[in-house]
Amino acid sequence: MVTGLRCVVCGEEIEISRACSWICSQATESDPFHVLEFVDDSALPSIPIDDDEPNPFVRYRERMGWWAFARSNGMSDADAVALARSVAGQFGVTPFELHDGVSESLGRPVWAKNETVGVSGSHKSRHLVGIMLHLIVAETLGLLPQRAPLAISSCGNAALAAAEVAASQSWPLEVFVPTWMDDAFGSGLDAHGATVNRCERADGVSGDPAMLAFRDAVASGSVPFSVQGPANAWCLDGGRTIGWEIRDQLRKAGVSPQAIYVQVGGGALATSLALGLGDDIPLVVVQAEGCAPLDRALQLAADVDAPECHWSEIMTTWEAPASLADGILDDETYDWISISRALRRSSGRSVVAPELNIVRAHEIVNTFGPPTSATGSAGVAGAITEVEMGVLDDRPIVVLLSGAAR
Ligand SMILES: Cc1ncc(COP(=O)(O)O)c(C=O)c1O
Ligand SMILES: [Zn+2]
Repeated sequence: MVTGLRCVVCGEEIEISRACSWICSQATESDPFHVLEFVDDSALPSIPIDDDEPNPFVRYRERMGWWAFARSNGMSDADAVALARSVAGQFGVTPFELHDGVSESLGRPVWAKNETVGVSGSHKSRHLVGIMLHLIVAETLGLLPQRAPLAISSCGNAALAAAEVAASQSWPLEVFVPTWMDDAFGSGLDAHGATVNRCERADGVSGDPAMLAFRDAVASGSVPFSVQGPANAWCLDGGRTIGWEIRDQLRKAGVSPQAIYVQVGGGALATSLALGLGDDIPLVVVQAEGCAPLDRALQLAADVDAPECHWSEIMTTWEAPASLADGILDDETYDWISISRALRRSSGRSVVAPELNIVRAHEIVNTFGPPTSATGSAGVAGAITEVEMGVLDDRPIVVLLSGAAR
């Protein structure tokens, strides 16, 4: 059971019963370089996993932070389950299947976890509903004096997921977007009742204006409804369900893969997937050659003791990110420390895919389906790259498809 959160940078510990424990309490504006991970006491589970339970937030609840938070504040298991069914009721275990087309192209069995059919068409909703479960538990138990607005900086799958999850609870949401965001996409967010704020670059101010506006909103009391671990560690809670599902689906299928490939932007997906999956399958994190700050940082970190204490020197922003996979063009990999820990635990690695392979992966996946964005098929580009490098044997591999084509 989850007992709390611990900062992997400064060691600060937070009891699981504390409400709204989004970030390390030592983090400040001038030193934001802290990140929390959930701490589990490894006690034997008391609630058997019910393979017939379709909702992962119910099936895996005993491993989850939101459930431990509820129970430690006196909520019964029955009430917690009822709350999950109401708040995360649309969530179901997503398909995991042998992908014949990609297998043929890559010359070995490729199993695909298909997040394109999940809530809002991508895995991002899993991150955000975990935060929402925490909020609704806190509200139900009288631990939240009022509903502060939710805030997110995104103009893609995360914004859409945030709008759907917030609307399902009628919780006000502010979305901070760049000025160039597609109007049609903005109207979709409006339709869900989100307030869309287009953020202009101010003269003489460096940094992403939408991210700066998000940080200002959080400093003024908004809830960081973020899909980045350092901005809100609770996004990792729901994200872990993907890893638990894949683990159980692999066991059922009797498959032992040689690697799992996952595309990386901000890094919360790879982090939470790895935390759920465990350490016995090598994690391969994939970035495009036009934006690979994680790969660069991992190379720098390899020669440094305690790299987490040298965050700003090791994780630096990528100049002029560019790729067809435009959802992973984060110029920094916010969750790089947790990823580097997961790579070490699983004997994993990082691969940078040439742009040609990003394009090929998108074509191959979409020839056979499911219809997937170039961002969401970019993990396959990493697998293509490693096939070309000759580093794989004939055993199966796993990829994660996310982001339904829009
Ligand atoms: C479809 C899809 N896959 C993968 C990612 C990467 O996730 P993360 O930013 O957590 O690394 C994103 C992020 O936007 C995405 O939209
Ligand atoms: Zn800290």
